Amino acid sequence: MTKKDPQFECIECGYQSIKYFGRCPNCQSWNSLVEKQEPEKMQESGLRGRLSRIDEIDPSEVERVPSGSDEFDRLLGGGIVGDSVILIGGEPGVGKSTLLLQICSFLSSAQHPILYYSGEESANQIKIRAQRLGISSPRLYLFTGGTLEELKEQIEQVTPRFLIIDSIQTLYSSKTSHNTGSPAALRILTSEIIETAKGKGITVFIVGHVTKEGQLAGPKTLEHMVDVVLYFQGDLQQDLRILRAEKNRFGAVNELGIFRMTDKGLEAVQDPSKLFIQHRHAGGSGIALFPAVNGQRTMIIEIQALVTDSPFVSNPRRIAVGFDSYKMAMLISIIEKKLKLPFYKSDVFLNITGGLNLRDTAADLAVCAALISSYKNLPVPGESVFIGETGLTGEIRPVHLLEQRLKEAGRQGFQCAFIPEVSGKLKKMELKTVTLKTLADLYGTLKDKSQ
Ligand SMILES: Nc1ncnc2c1ncn2[C@@H]1O[C@H](COP(=O)(O)OP(=O)(O)OP(=O)(O)O)[C@@H](O)[C@H]1O
Ligand SMILES: [Mg+2]
Repeated sequence: MTKKDPQFECIECGYQSIKYFGRCPNCQSWNSLVEKQEPEKMQESGLRGRLSRIDEIDPSEVERVPSGSDEFDRLLGGGIVGDSVILIGGEPGVGKSTLLLQICSFLSSAQHPILYYSGEESANQIKIRAQRLGISSPRLYLFTGGTLEELKEQIEQVTPRFLIIDSIQTLYSSKTSHNTGSPAALRILTSEIIETAKGKGITVFIVGHVTKEGQLAGPKTLEHMVDVVLYFQGDLQQDLRILRAEKNRFGAVNELGIFRMTDKGLEAVQDPSKLFIQHRHAGGSGIALFPAVNGQRTMIIEIQALVTDSPFVSNPRRIAVGFDSYKMAMLISIIEKKLKLPFYKSDVFLNITGGLNLRDTAADLAVCAALISSYKNLPVPGESVFIGETGLTGEIRPVHLLEQRLKEAGRQGFQCAFIPEVSGKLKKMELKTVTLKTLADLYGTLKDKSQ
């Protein structure tokens, strides 16, 4: 490297600099600049490129293997795709190893040999977990500790159909000088594993640790290299665990897998709506219910708001859990402007119950209902759901999949839905629908119902 060459590289966005910064000037990530290392000399892989004309390709159907868990299969788009690479990220203790061991149990019983690499736990620890989960199989091979080169030897010996890497941060190669777990090492190890697996038709599950911010540790490029990225979330104090598809080359990304952690491992939750709502009858203030669509499933979600006088008059708190805080700030500004309600003197807290992360714009109306209701201490009508997007001018805009949402609310026995104006005619639903055109209509409804 000459003196002028960039010597630091951002592991998140790839920005390069000759100076060190605590915060990346490009993507604003903290502590993401690392010393740039000379690229390793590429090794001869043995794989050869192939030129094809698209009209001459005879596509074979994508092979999908059931994992043994319907919840996990739906998340992947209908089963595990042959020779795909699946990255699973999540906080320590959330249940990554448990889920993979449960999947191994089913796959190995279907005559598939599996090689499970663990760099974090001994074979004995894994055996104890397997006993607790009631798993034993002669086709499940454990390989603990060791290097990438040794792992490759084991792959030759076992010829597995599935390979589990638990975790990529603990694997190391005797051939690279990079530190274990460093971004450069992760990139090299992952590409070597993918190359080995794709050449032999092996499906790979890679466990990745997440940073404090909840992102996969290591370079973002790791996510580009794999076919599927799944994030495991959940409050470790509770037994609920949510698996979310962040990227999927073979299916939709808005699917959720909802599980409960028990002493027998992870169990799928059959009717999640029941889990996320506690206040459907009460009609309390600061609580609004919303039918959220996640892939093929619709479930009713509880949105809670707390608006209180702020002790920090010049800088009130705005805290959103499970909802985009910028979006919340925008909705508060619309309410302030259109309804003349001075939120600027109040602390605002918003919470989506059950540890869910709500990204659906159709939830705007329910969020506004919860915020206004808490601020003015007006009860939100019980047995009701709110569906609608809020425009910057305060109008309530149509949303996608309205009928699907209404159907689920009707199925759950709700009596009323507050919805935007729709252009066509709605199918006859089991519940009453009330049209709201603007936020002023919503405020008027809340005031009327409280009288
Ligand atoms: N006997 C038990 N009964 C119920 N739950 C248990 C029991 N033992 C462990 N667990 C659950 O399993 C979790 C650990 O799961 P697991 O080891 O699969 O997590 P992980 O995501 O792989 O963690 P790490 O990142 O540390 O490897 C614990 O946090 C706990 O919730
Ligand atoms: Mg683990």
